[in-house]
Amino acid sequence: MKLSITLFTCFLMFLVFACSDVDESKSDLTPTQPNPNGDSELALLMREMFDDGMRMKQQLESGDKLEVLAKFEKIHTATATEPEKAASKKFKMYADAYLNMIEQLKVSSPEDTEVLYQGLVKSCMNCHQALCPGPMVRIKKLYLKK
Ligand code: HEC
Repeated sequence: MKLSITLFTCFLMFLVFACSDVDESKSDLTPTQPNPNGDSELALLMREMFDDGMRMKQQLESGDKLEVLAKFEKIHTATATEPEKAASKKFKMYADAYLNMIEQLKVSSPEDTEVLYQGLVKSCMNCHQALCPGPMVRIKKLYLKK
């Protein structure tokens, strides 16, 4: 009994670390660096996605034309801290929903852009709510304030 509690605690710790909002000081690692204790390809990609979200938010807030970059298709192939998570059906479904939002945003008419942008942030949140709640506090900052 005691052993299983210990194991369970370790498991929880692992989850928390794998999905926690790690501080930026580690972000100088390159994506190709095979560092089992460091940042996974997926984690680095996610940080880029976050930064790109901030960039889009600023464009919208200052009334500039929104530039949508399509460079995050790697979400389907980047290796994750917990590979079984990224291999799950759920992950694939949420990843497709996210990529689909990007596509819609690219072709959106100006009057739909803000609604679609909020939808994009929501698509980040949906996957995180289901698979990786740690970074949600941070992702929320991408929403436009209404
Ligand atoms: C399909 C599911 C999914 C979608 C969609 C998704 N994420 Fe993630 N995200 C994850 C998973 C899983 C991790 C954990 C990655 C790892 O540790 O390998 C993660 C990690 C992160 C992290 C923490 C990275 C770090 O420093 O360790 C941030 C920040 C993040 N995501 C932001 C975003 C933003 C912003 C979006 C939308 C633009 C987004 N995510 C969309 C699944 C998703």
